[in-house]
Amino acid sequence: MAERSWEILESACHNCKKCRLSEMRTNVVIGTGNRNADILFIGEGPGEQEDLQGFPFVGPAGQLLDKMLAAIGLSRQEVYIANVVKCRPPGNRDPHEDEQASCMNYLRYQFLLIQPKIIVCLGRIAAQAIIEKDFKITKERGNWICRKGCWIMATYHPSALLRDETKKRPAWEDFKEIRKKLHELQGIAE
Ligand code: URA
Ligand code: SF4
Repeated sequence: MAERSWEILESACHNCKKCRLSEMRTNVVIGTGNRNADILFIGEGPGEQEDLQGFPFVGPAGQLLDKMLAAIGLSRQEVYIANVVKCRPPGNRDPHEDEQASCMNYLRYQFLLIQPKIIVCLGRIAAQAIIEKDFKITKERGNWICRKGCWIMATYHPSALLRDETKKRPAWEDFKEIRKKLHELQGIAE
């Protein structure tokens, strides 16, 4: 049943022409990881490597994300990783609001299938798409909100950490909070 639902999602995404990003893509990047994950990470959209390979976070930002996950005892196989838009914005520009809106139902569907306990928004674009339109990443990162039983937090995008070393410390604090919340929800003592 769930398998069939994933097949339907995949085929809808592979054939999708709902926004202009379909015109330039090499691959649709749907998501990767554990379809029963307790935690869902959401980035902005595919970059060059992701577009070429068809998987999210496989370029330099992805390598850093893998390291940060490992530091809190998680592997990419245990979590689920997706993006706000599934096709690469040209030149890695921000995805436009209409493109995000066109793509959002796929992500909603993924959320319903995965039923994660936690969502982590990676960067401003994901935070504004998921949490609040005017979300200020510098001020509001690291705060938990709970919506319909799902805990949601935003932290810096790993690309931002590669550009600005000073963001690494606060991002690490956020990741420690994520580990804590995950253990709490899984009933694991720290
Ligand atoms: N940046 C993102 O936001 N998503 C990816 O998949 C890769 C880089
Ligand atoms: Fe469809 Fe999303 Fe790709 Fe736009 S970005 S074409 S809505 S899959």
